[in-house]
Amino acid sequence: MSEQAPKFKVTIDNITIEVPAGTTILNAARMIGGDVTPPAMCYYSKLKESGGKCRTCLVEVSKGSEKDPRPMPKLVASCRTTVMDGMEVKNITSDKVLDARKGIVEFLLMNHPLDCPVCDQAGECDLQDLSYEHGSEGTRYEFDRRKFEKEDIGPYIQLHMTRCILCYRCVFTADQLTGKREHGVLERGDHSEISTLLGKSLDNEFIGNVIDVCPVGALTDKTFRFKNRVWFTKPVDAHRDCPTCSGKVRLWMRGDEVFRVTARKDQWGEVEEWICNDCRFHKKEVKDWVIEGPSHVRRSSVIAQGHYEHTQKPHVLIDKVIGKQPVLKMDIHSISDVNKPEIDLSKIEGPAHSTDFEGNKLLGNG
Ligand code: SF4
Ligand code: FES
Repeated sequence: MSEQAPKFKVTIDNITIEVPAGTTILNAARMIGGDVTPPAMCYYSKLKESGGKCRTCLVEVSKGSEKDPRPMPKLVASCRTTVMDGMEVKNITSDKVLDARKGIVEFLLMNHPLDCPVCDQAGECDLQDLSYEHGSEGTRYEFDRRKFEKEDIGPYIQLHMTRCILCYRCVFTADQLTGKREHGVLERGDHSEISTLLGKSLDNEFIGNVIDVCPVGALTDKTFRFKNRVWFTKPVDAHRDCPTCSGKVRLWMRGDEVFRVTARKDQWGEVEEWICNDCRFHKKEVKDWVIEGPSHVRRSSVIAQGHYEHTQKPHVLIDKVIGKQPVLKMDIHSISDVNKPEIDLSKIEGPAHSTDFEGNKLLGNG
């Protein structure tokens, strides 16, 4: 019989949970879920060695363990620190953490262009979400940002190095999934950049997954670029009998048109199952797929807000954490003229205009 790992008790933001020894603080927080879970821009549970690069997951350990209750002297990266029995951790209940996270966001944005209005990742960008939650209004950075030319790194993928936060996720994905990595981080320090060596191209049959793991808009799908904003498309889950991958995907549709195909993602924004290039880039017809139904977008992001099957971000036990109940400050559906959940956007030909919403024409009331 296999021996079970001993269980350790850890308290994160006043919520106690038992987890197997060896669990990281981040994963223990994910087991609790909701707001007590620190954000993670580089850690990816499906990629070995990931984490420890971005520092967005910093937490305060106010009690090291039952045996040694001394607090840890500095904030620690929760994705790289394992829990000890009796450990007490503060995430959103720590002013130090919130202040440090603000600083981290400022650092991440130091060289990142503020081109959300034209970036394909807008609406599903982890950095955009992070800046809304933890960012400052302005920057103190006075120098020129790093500049790079856009680079075609293969038939399907474009690299905007200016947007890269050097999280290494795409490097680990290529390394661990395709077995034939053609790109990596070149140079050191401030000169570090993602690139292929000597103009090689990324064309392995699973390489498209680097687009899904990229937390920002640095790696984008050339078959979808500038075709539509993600919040105007309707995500549906679909599958096909694929000889190469599981064939379980998410289609981003407008009417009967499949604008893009991605892997399905979980509530942490991580790919549930890797998909092959054939499913991702070559199957853009409805007839290629068996549609299962609308996707359940479980993340707090613009794509969740604009989606009919929108599920609220679980405010897990928030009252226990900070002694307050969440308050709905504004229901966008009740005040917006162009965001009526009862109107089926997929029935609109082409881009939607304000006239499409006048008098609820689509409901037959106009
Ligand atoms: S290109 Fe994207 S996934 Fe790759 S290191 Fe940069 S930010 Fe990370
Ligand atoms: S997620 Fe922990 S350092 Fe990036």
